[in-house]
Amino acid sequence: MARKIIIDTDPGQDDAVAILLALASDELEILGITAVAGNVPLDLTSKNARIVCELAGRSDVKVFAGCDRPMGRDLVTAEHVHGKTGLDGIELPDPVMQMADGHGVDFIIDTLRAQPAGSVTLCPLGPLTNIGTAFQRAPDIVGKVQGIVLMGGAYFEVGNITPAAEFNIYVDPEAADIVFKSGVPLVVMPLDVTHKALTTRERVERFRKINRVGEAVASWTEFFERFDKEKYGSEGAPLHDPTVIAYLLKPELFSGRHINVEIETQSPLTRGMTVADWWRVTGRAPNAMFIGDLDADGFFGLLADRIARL
Ligand code: BDR
Ligand code: CA
Repeated sequence: MARKIIIDTDPGQDDAVAILLALASDELEILGITAVAGNVPLDLTSKNARIVCELAGRSDVKVFAGCDRPMGRDLVTAEHVHGKTGLDGIELPDPVMQMADGHGVDFIIDTLRAQPAGSVTLCPLGPLTNIGTAFQRAPDIVGKVQGIVLMGGAYFEVGNITPAAEFNIYVDPEAADIVFKSGVPLVVMPLDVTHKALTTRERVERFRKINRVGEAVASWTEFFERFDKEKYGSEGAPLHDPTVIAYLLKPELFSGRHINVEIETQSPLTRGMTVADWWRVTGRAPNAMFIGDLDADGFFGLLADRIARL
């Protein structure tokens, strides 16, 4: 039986590739996609999620608009990385499919209440506002979540939006704090692992040759690459968010440590830092599988293989 998932996302080129990977994989049943404000404002992330579904020929997937700002702060966006649409790199048609009725947070709450306990995995790829809000508003659903596999945080690699913090956690640290304290089993893909999922010329050209979806993936990653090349001097761009879906499909590609991770919410200097007890120097109880490494060739092989199915 396919694993039931909800993808919570702020597309974003790398979010788009993650959504495509999930759509291409029949091991996964996407109950719905909830958009959140993050890389770009909500009107664009909710539009982009539908553009991606239509690119994959899947206008049947329900896309909900969720929260348009963090739980207690102003929104910070990342057009400097993703471009002004959030999906810069290739012109794609505006979506024909409509938004699903209702708020994304209500969809998360209602779905978890309706499904058997322990049967739904949440896959957040952006700021954790929708999930944090759902947990705060409906604490009864927390115990019903099978697990959360999310992209966010950093330890050895520290920050990409400030010296201390990774973007998704920085944007809504209060929501992240709720999620990390929730007791739900967490798998966390921090920058430490996503910076090893780097596109190279060869990998991008491989995508481009597959089909028209692969062409879009190649164009998106090329756009997105310029930022990381300039900033880190790296060969290509990190495909952050697809690591979440790849973990669901092939966890054996990844390794990490089950450790305690807490979120800094108070300090202006280190807002959104994931304080990860990698060396287990505190007695704090582990709450997250914090991933540190992946088999990059295996990861890109999986992506290419699945994109070819679209
Ligand atoms: C995360 O922030 C966004 O820019 C990406 O989509 C990814 O989810 C990386 O820090
Ligand atoms: Ca994202």
